[in-house]
Amino acid sequence: MQPTVKPKNPNFSSGPCAKRPGYNVADLQLDTLGRSHRSALGKKALGLCCSETARILGLPEGYRVAVVAGSDTGAVEMALWSLLGPRGVDVLAWESFGSGWVTDIVKQLKLPNVTKLEAGYGDITDFSKVNFDHDVVFTWNGTTSGVKVPNGDWIPANRAGLTICDATSAVFAMELPWDKLDVITYSWQKVLGGEGAHGMLILSPRAVQRLESYTPPWPMPKLFRMTSGGKLTEGLFKGETINTPSMLCVSDYLDALAWVERIGGVQATMARSEANLKVISDFVAANDWISFLAKDPATRSNTSVCLTLKLGDDQVKQVVKLLDTEGVACDIGAYKDAPAGIRIWCGATVEATDLQALMPWLSWAYHKVSA
Ligand SMILES: Cc1ncc(COP(=O)(O)O)c(C=O)c1O
Repeated sequence: MQPTVKPKNPNFSSGPCAKRPGYNVADLQLDTLGRSHRSALGKKALGLCCSETARILGLPEGYRVAVVAGSDTGAVEMALWSLLGPRGVDVLAWESFGSGWVTDIVKQLKLPNVTKLEAGYGDITDFSKVNFDHDVVFTWNGTTSGVKVPNGDWIPANRAGLTICDATSAVFAMELPWDKLDVITYSWQKVLGGEGAHGMLILSPRAVQRLESYTPPWPMPKLFRMTSGGKLTEGLFKGETINTPSMLCVSDYLDALAWVERIGGVQATMARSEANLKVISDFVAANDWISFLAKDPATRSNTSVCLTLKLGDDQVKQVVKLLDTEGVACDIGAYKDAPAGIRIWCGATVEATDLQALMPWLSWAYHKVSA
């Protein structure tokens, strides 16, 4: 039987992700539009992006936050290009985005002393093999496989190298051991349902110390430059962006942060995401034709939930298309490089009631296509 109740919001994309409940673009504070981002008004808004992020996330004293260009990719590459070189590098990858950082390090930066620690879709790297005398580059949540790092127990507090973590689909949804991470990056477009184009770069004091004591041998594009005359450009971490940001996106991000605060802070956004995952976990437990791609339950992502169906690849595509055509789920096909399947975003801006409404539709589409 075709279900009758549809999700109120069918947007389950893994990025850009659904806008927060109650979002209304007309409610954004727009007094910064048409003004210089270097005016007092513009700088205040950009400064708040940094300081409110640090406050709401509860970052340790001394951690710095910058708004940079190029979304999460921009923030990660800025870190790789600026920090890597003086030590060996261990780079961990178990899906497409992690593999992208391997390519950057091995083929673009061409660093000599690199250890690749890789695993296939559904698995995760063996953390016992990581050498923390090296700099360690990894993704907290593999968005295209739905496999996340379960915790930070494997990262020593007294490591010699830096830990550089692409946490774009984790920040605001997963508990992160900030003091064990030296570089953390994310984009507004993920868990907060913000906009793309701007990246967030968070640096520990140890990362800053590296920046001030090491100059990479390769050319550094202006967009990546965080130091001047060997000293950190402090203004960058107070809202003085390297180039011109979208003040509309800035306002949108501040709106998202205010929402986080209103609903109870990052504990509340994490709880919303976990509750969303539970809707899907319960459904998977009750149906033998659908499974998590993540093999170990401890590594199952609570944001980018990747599922496989007992169907052929073309049939999976039909399920995705059917649900889109019915207006119940947009953009839930697996990532292009990932095994055939579906990926349902469960970040904080998604409502559990919408996921509950979606589940009967999944059954309906599966049975319709397999018949
Ligand atoms: C783990 C991870 N890293 C990097 C990116 C690239 O993000 P952006 O497009 O915001 O640069 C994504 C996007 O989905 C991602 O999931």
